[in-house]
Amino acid sequence: MRDALSRTFFLALARSALLKAGASRYGMRGPDGFARRFVGGETLNEAMGVVQDLDRQGFTHTLNYLGEHVASPDVARRAAGDYLEIIERVGAAGLPCKISVKLSQLGLELDRALCADNLRRILAAAGERDGFVRIDMEGSATVDATLGIFEAVWNEGLRNVGVVLQAYLHRTEADLRRVLALGARVRLCKGAYKEPSGVAYQDRAHVDDAFLSLIPVLLAEGHAPAIATHDRQAIDAACRFAEQRGIGPDRFEFQMLFGVRRDLQAELRDRGYPVRVYVPFGREWFPYFMRRLAERPANVAFVARSLLRERKGDPPVSPPSRR
Ligand code: FDA
Repeated sequence: MRDALSRTFFLALARSALLKAGASRYGMRGPDGFARRFVGGETLNEAMGVVQDLDRQGFTHTLNYLGEHVASPDVARRAAGDYLEIIERVGAAGLPCKISVKLSQLGLELDRALCADNLRRILAAAGERDGFVRIDMEGSATVDATLGIFEAVWNEGLRNVGVVLQAYLHRTEADLRRVLALGARVRLCKGAYKEPSGVAYQDRAHVDDAFLSLIPVLLAEGHAPAIATHDRQAIDAACRFAEQRGIGPDRFEFQMLFGVRRDLQAELRDRGYPVRVYVPFGREWFPYFMRRLAERPANVAFVARSLLRERKGDPPVSPPSRR
């Protein structure tokens, strides 16, 4: 209950323009800005540095250019153009071109045809670089439209695209089977948005149960399944199931967020499991950052301490378990 309340609180704050303006002043300021724990930088150069570092440590990556719910078709077109530049520069740097996109950044809520066109441009550019594009899943009101666009491009023969499904939604088992039947790639996560009880499980135990029940389906029937979590219980269950079924670590991967449970990321890598790190970057980091606070309110204490020090001009603090 407390979890659900604090989650609601932070996700509501994520919509505050005032808080966004205030946080944006400090969050990424200097090398120790509090948002840097979860955000790979405000520029592509910074993010590429992070990705190169991860590659050296034996992790793979997916890059996300932050932005969502754009206000006009022009902004949506520009976001797609930004992605083309990102793909070009990442490819030119010799880095694998793996990216994650949010369709609300490409105009999903304004004009679905425009959004689909923007996505096609990105897929074509990524395809030239042997790249792969994962469509993140957003609030439940966008799931039908997101899956609709995903299936449309898939049915046009575009294959360098996959989608995310969220275990907390009651509909997800059916969606999972539908996407798996296409032969498409799924990233399964618990889900990060505030959803009504009619569409999503509300308490942690139910969400965890739903996640645990979908993992075997994805592992057994999925194509390059991706299990996106920092939950050790879910990870252990996935490893056990894979072992029992003879599904080797080369046939699926774990995915985790930049800055979250680095200890577990390293542990899994050392045990021979592929770990892909989701690296978001860009100036529009505030809603993403607030979702990370909603997942773990203890993060707030760290932010508060950073801000107090900033105001007093003290040296920066280290985050708790910077992982
Ligand atoms: P859970 O929340 O139970 O956390 C397990 C443990 O992980 C915690 O006990 C804590 O130790 C640690 N942890 C989790 N979150 C933390 C945080 N913010 N700070 C510090 N520690 C934390 N969601 C969505 O709706 N659409 C999407 O497209 C995606 N995409 C996505 C990609 C990838 C690669 C990941 C890892 C996650 C997503 N998510 C997402 C987010 C996902 O839905 C979920 O909100 C978070 O992963 C947190 O859930 P866990 O599975 O980690 O479990």
